[in-house]
Amino acid sequence: MDVSLNFAAVPHILKSNWRCPSNIALVKYWGKKESGTQLPANPSISLTLSDLYTETTITVNHGNVSGEPAFTFLLEGQSKLAFEPKIYSFFKKIWNDFQVIRECHLVIDSKNNFPHGTGIASSASGFGALALALCDLEQAHTGKMMDDFFNKASEVARLGSGSACRSIYAGVTSWGKCESIENSSDFYATPFQSKIDAPLNDLMDAVLIVDDSEKSVSSTEGHSLLINNPYSAARYATAAKNHSRIIDSLEKGNVRSFIQIVESEALQLHAMMMASSPYYILMRPNTLAIIEKIWAFREKEGLPVMFTLDAGANVHLLYPAEYNEVVVNFIENALLDYCKSGQYLCSFTGKGPEKIQ
Ligand code: PMV
Repeated sequence: MDVSLNFAAVPHILKSNWRCPSNIALVKYWGKKESGTQLPANPSISLTLSDLYTETTITVNHGNVSGEPAFTFLLEGQSKLAFEPKIYSFFKKIWNDFQVIRECHLVIDSKNNFPHGTGIASSASGFGALALALCDLEQAHTGKMMDDFFNKASEVARLGSGSACRSIYAGVTSWGKCESIENSSDFYATPFQSKIDAPLNDLMDAVLIVDDSEKSVSSTEGHSLLINNPYSAARYATAAKNHSRIIDSLEKGNVRSFIQIVESEALQLHAMMMASSPYYILMRPNTLAIIEKIWAFREKEGLPVMFTLDAGANVHLLYPAEYNEVVVNFIENALLDYCKSGQYLCSFTGKGPEKIQ
């Protein structure tokens, strides 16, 4: 039997596999400009969480002549129909820019390294990884290199989920037009270039899982409720001020003002939810119990530990990596009772996305 391969008969398979981390905002994006697509009402700034990520492989399967986006979406190897409408509408938004979407059927295989049902949003890492793999495939499919690959990936990721545009870069990343950051834009994120001194240059995030159920109000609905919120104009102005103040704190190594801005931003995010119509509360009693424990620990130990919150009940405990041991002890001894099934996840903030060969 002739076992030699007939290469001419093997179709040319294009495939791209990217890992993209999640991020946690220090100054929050909460509210969109009323014109344009997914443009932020204020600039935001975040830390990229290297150890909490999504890995996405896209395989170009065969031709697509339907005139519509054609794809299969798998999560952890299982078909996930519930995610398809969001991906379909994302593909429609980028249709004109991506020949590979117009001409091919795509198989998207995605997995998160953090467990399901922990309340950790995977939309930033998910759309980040999807955008990176799509940009990569577009280059391979057309044979044309993009002028600035990461900039394009950030712009594309933004159209899937606003905060995803910040996940394209490592470390501290800003998104939104502002005076303090050169080349800043509402369309894509920019890595923070200034030197950051210790202890703010190497922060870790311990995500304390308070509630793992589905959020009662999604981020999409939450953003839209800002339109009629009587406090939104004041919030946008305060957030813009906090964005420029936090940059100043990072550049000057001013830990005290950094902590004050980070915690105030978290509480303002939730205050906006409470002031929306209809009003809602995503914090749980254990969210507040943990915040009070963190304040008491900071007071007692004199360590620069602080909390922030996402749009959910979980608490993000931020601290310089040099205090990892003492903070993990504090979590194990004082906070586990407030965490759902004693769950928490620690992440460094150094590394950004990676192409997996
Ligand atoms: O990217 P979205 O639409 O899921 O909005 C994210 C909003 C917050 O996570 C609450 C804040 C932020 O800046 O990431």
